[in-house]
Amino acid sequence: MRMKDQFSSRVRWVRFDACFVLPLLLLALQSFLGSQGLSAAEPAAPRKGLVATVNPVATEAGLQALRDGGNAVDAAIACALTLGVVDGHNSGLGGGCFMTLRLADGRLITLDGREMAPAAATRDLFLREGKADPLLSQDGALSVGIPGEFATLAYASTNYGRLPLGRLLEAAARVAEKGFRLDRHYVGRLKETRSQLALFPESEVIFLKGLPTVPSAGDRLRQPDLARSYRQMAAGGVAWFYRGDFARRTAEWMQAHGGVVTASDFARYEVVPREPVRGTYRGHEIVSFPPPSSGGVHVVEILNILEHFDLAAMGDGSAELAHVVAEAMKLAFADRARWLGDPDFARVPRGLVSKKYAVELAQRIRLDRASVVAAAGTPPEADREWFTRERNRHTTHFSTADTEGNWVACTASLNTSFGSKVVVPGTGLLLNNHMDDFSAQPGVPNFFGLVGAEANSIEARKRPLSSMSPTLVLRDGQPILSVGAAGGPTIISQTLLAILRTIDFKKSPREALAAPRLHHQWKPDELHVERSWGEAVIAELRRRGHTVAVDASLGAAQAVGRDAQGHWSAAADPRGEGAAGVW
Ligand code: GLY
Repeated sequence: MRMKDQFSSRVRWVRFDACFVLPLLLLALQSFLGSQGLSAAEPAAPRKGLVATVNPVATEAGLQALRDGGNAVDAAIACALTLGVVDGHNSGLGGGCFMTLRLADGRLITLDGREMAPAAATRDLFLREGKADPLLSQDGALSVGIPGEFATLAYASTNYGRLPLGRLLEAAARVAEKGFRLDRHYVGRLKETRSQLALFPESEVIFLKGLPTVPSAGDRLRQPDLARSYRQMAAGGVAWFYRGDFARRTAEWMQAHGGVVTASDFARYEVVPREPVRGTYRGHEIVSFPPPSSGGVHVVEILNILEHFDLAAMGDGSAELAHVVAEAMKLAFADRARWLGDPDFARVPRGLVSKKYAVELAQRIRLDRASVVAAAGTPPEADREWFTRERNRHTTHFSTADTEGNWVACTASLNTSFGSKVVVPGTGLLLNNHMDDFSAQPGVPNFFGLVGAEANSIEARKRPLSSMSPTLVLRDGQPILSVGAAGGPTIISQTLLAILRTIDFKKSPREALAAPRLHHQWKPDELHVERSWGEAVIAELRRRGHTVAVDASLGAAQAVGRDAQGHWSAAADPRGEGAAGVW
């Protein structure tokens, strides 16, 4: 596509940082941006707003919504719809999402569009001869939860957006119809998932036969069925999806292929506005996603623990910092396995985010060596108080903001690459495999190696536990950061680290996302670090007793921010091929 090509070339220019022709390039870039209304990652002052996603075509769709008179909510919806076309292995309308919003009038809102288990789902759905079978929870009919993303986007559009949803759907339909060029990530996912996609004829036609036998970056993928579905949603709205043709076709396919999803499951799906998880960190307010995500709870829990350590004095990139952050993560992830689940079904103690509990956990951290965390802690009033439903109430992250004061952090997902691999015949819509995020059996790890307990067992109409962490940071009541990430449980770690880099180390979003990452999820007892921490830090972490696994790169995060001087900035993860833009 023309805009993608233009944008990509600009991103390559930005990466020319060390080149001696930099001043000339910057001049050329400035005039180019002026004429196109687009920007590199760190603009000073937008006319209307900022957008950051993992894909330049989706970022452009968000910017176009702003140019067309939309606000940050419209921009986020445009990004979500377009990501479902150009980044469809990660997210789409057959999946779910969480959206955290701060509206211009100061309201803070979290919309739960997580998938829901079908009514016929039972605790032992994935057990065969007493053992959990990951093939059942990860591919095909049983792996599918009732999708929530479209309901969420429609809800946000009706209540907080300005542009008609149909117009945004039509713009994304045109991208699906004309096609887009695959990036290297899409090609990599296709290659990894090829044999599973081939099991489902509809998916095979779209993703394997629709492309060269050995796809490569730059190949064009067209999705005419998906374009038609988007247009049917534009005409028929949520009724087409949840009570009409799409629900019926999905139920028919499920019945013929051993699934348990019915049309009545679709009809009963609802987006749930929930009370955000709120915490504080060194004078800043943290607003994040509540259960059924574990993200907000553990981002706040870890920040509460780390508040007891002088991270700035340790220095970013130091072994001291990596050690103490890893120790805090380990404690929080042990709690995740024990306590977290859908709050409409499980008691999730509010004490997990209390400052008092964090004191107790911080005291368990030794600075000289890695600790053994045998089990979850017991937060205050664990038996009495829990997050409740509030009626007033593989994955991608995107952030938007506008100059009116609307900020959005949204994380959307089909779960693992291409979700269940199932495309509902004739619709082009891929279905998620989020049923794998339930704990199929106590102590048995899911795709991401996460273990869970009773709180996250499978039940009819329950929502599987997530790590998605769309988060806003406020200072003096004003938003300064919208951030979140993709990558299973590392989402929590990436979001946390971006917040630390912003608050403790005063980094811009671009610098915060570029800084080295680490991740510890308690089980397995393994500390994942990016190679960029450097050999000396990695050796020191091993000396302190960590079992260290070194990764080339961890995750993909996006952010937009505004610093104390009022400068705006937006950043896509430098590990990927995303784009940040301003208009
Ligand atoms: N699909 C990953 C998550 O929701 O945590």
